[in-house]
Amino acid sequence: QPLIPQLISLPKILDDRGNLSFIESEKHIPFRIQRCYWIYDVPGGELRGSHAFKTQHEFIIALSGSFDVLLHNGKKEERYSLRRSYQGLYVPPMHFRTLDNFSTNSVALVLSSTAYDPDDYIWDWDVFQKACACKI
Ligand code: TYD
Repeated sequence: QPLIPQLISLPKILDDRGNLSFIESEKHIPFRIQRCYWIYDVPGGELRGSHAFKTQHEFIIALSGSFDVLLHNGKKEERYSLRRSYQGLYVPPMHFRTLDNFSTNSVALVLSSTAYDPDDYIWDWDVFQKACACKI
């Protein structure tokens, strides 16, 4: 069963004092969280990412503002727009991913299944394509 990207709506506790959402590891997302990082102060027109991960799973949330996530699975590309604090995108391993269209003051929260490991990155598009072809 191939792992597929998925937009996931998180619990949302509506309150006149302000709303609240939360994530529990392995409950609302299909992996155990080992690391969080966030991307902010992105200058207009900049891109982030443009790589794939061999093994790590990610969950990406637009905590503030909006941006797009482009995912390519080796066969086709799909664009996801993130703009809600209570919704995130599950990114399985072996998806070439790029973040773009960052709005001013947007914040991307990324939850990852692994510690930071530069060896888990695939930067080269051709290497990625070949690795995908091997799996099929
Ligand atoms: P990178 O993963 O390339 O950022 P993005 O894909 O979001 O554009 O990381 C940029 C730099 O930050 C790179 O030098 C590695 C470093 N880094 C860490 O040290 N730890 C981390 O958890 C992450 C995500 C990046």
